[in-house]
Amino acid sequence: MSSIELIINLAYVVAAALFIIGLKLLSHPSSARKGNLVSAIGMFVAVVVTLLDKQIIDFHWILLGFVIGAAYGAWKAKKVEMTQMPEMVSLFNGFGGLASLLLGWATITGMHLVSFATTSEFVFLTVFLTILIGGITFSGSVIAWGKLSGKMNAKAVIFAGLRELSIAHLLGFVAIGYLFVTQPDNLVWLYASIALALSFGIWATISIGGADMPVVIALLNSYSGIAACAAGLAVNNTILIVTGLLVGASGLILTNIMCKAMNRSLMNVLLSGFAKPVEMGEVIEGEVKILSAQDAFYVLEAAQSVLVVPGYGMAVAQAQHAVRELQSLLEENNCTVEYAIHPVAGRMPGHMNVLLAEADVPYDLLYEMDDVNPRMENYDVVIVIGANDVVNPAAKEMKGSPIYGMPVIEVYRAKSVFVLKRSAAAGFAGVDNPLFFKDNTRMVLGDAKDTINSIIREFGDD
Ligand code: TAP
Repeated sequence: MSSIELIINLAYVVAAALFIIGLKLLSHPSSARKGNLVSAIGMFVAVVVTLLDKQIIDFHWILLGFVIGAAYGAWKAKKVEMTQMPEMVSLFNGFGGLASLLLGWATITGMHLVSFATTSEFVFLTVFLTILIGGITFSGSVIAWGKLSGKMNAKAVIFAGLRELSIAHLLGFVAIGYLFVTQPDNLVWLYASIALALSFGIWATISIGGADMPVVIALLNSYSGIAACAAGLAVNNTILIVTGLLVGASGLILTNIMCKAMNRSLMNVLLSGFAKPVEMGEVIEGEVKILSAQDAFYVLEAAQSVLVVPGYGMAVAQAQHAVRELQSLLEENNCTVEYAIHPVAGRMPGHMNVLLAEADVPYDLLYEMDDVNPRMENYDVVIVIGANDVVNPAAKEMKGSPIYGMPVIEVYRAKSVFVLKRSAAAGFAGVDNPLFFKDNTRMVLGDAKDTINSIIREFGDD
């Protein structure tokens, strides 16, 4: 190994170490920013070393791509709302998949006839997998983006023959994969692979309902890593293999965590569109009891322990700062305040944690569902702020419900529950919520931020 090769390999090891340290730091809100920075430095090292090593294309093109990409990325990062992050992540995954697909494509079209004869079949297999997984990731992510952003109907699209179409795709992968690997110089198989991959990504994602999109996005994230890993094998680039594996593994771990949080298997999520529609076992009957902000204040003023359960509506209302202020007022009134965070509350993993961190809510007040459920009876008041599905007792009580079996924060077992939202309408999963009709539940209707500010004003007037 020449000394240049040694330096390059050492730089790759440094980049890989920075990725791993970055991932570790990303696993806690207090160190997440640092983790992002460390990973970005790792990526910078990897890109610079690869460019110096390979001189892949003209530097003019690289600079042009860098300027356009960085300008667009910076503008988009400034502009994106927190609530739009999942669809943004979906696009990121899609572009990762597209990059791998293009790399596989360019590897084949850039080969000379002699290279086709001297290159091993293993390399062509990795190129095929790069194109296949990259293509599925790209078209699947575009559909997920469309569903999450409301540009497409979020419902699962199911039609007669969809199952057969999926099986035909799978058989097609085997047949075209074989032809691609054995006749790599015949570009028909290259374009057939691209078409098949893009087509499968569309059908596989379009048949999954919007409520399951978070899991799909985590899975597509993992696919984008696996595609990059295959690309690394195809072009013999160590850092691409390592990065791809890290992304692939972390995406799979996240997928697993989210499936567990919904009490679903991955197969159940992926094939959910094929399942027979479930009948709601019971009709929810009862009366919603409305409470004014002023009356809510009287109860809170006397409370000794309060649990706050935030959900997507807190993000929409941008109520996190008001929530923090209410927490301080309650604490000054000798009341303990804790927060319960459901793993899929909001619209992306860690959504609530990020918002509460932004409002300076101490991390040690944030508890997971399994920590608070056993002591739910001890809370005088649970304030549900813009959450719905994650506190829906139908998941425990109504066998026919589409969310039956999903672990939820069992707020209905507390002494009293205040639900702060604008109406008794269903949440993301489109399932009615029996919590609103329970004897110990009161609904304080209105925008969550306005409601909390009204309660805060009552504390001031007191
Ligand atoms: P949801 O079930 O979506 O309910 C949010 C509630 O917020 C709505 O029912 C809405 O009711 C209320 N709301 C909206 N704007 C409001 C405002 N300005 N003020 C007060 N309330 C407002 O939320 P959740 O309980 O957090 O559950 C999350 C759901 O999203 C789950 O089904 C989960 O699977 C899914 N999901 C999660 C993720 C991740 S990874 N977290 C990603 C995508 C989807 P009103 O209209 O009556 O106000």
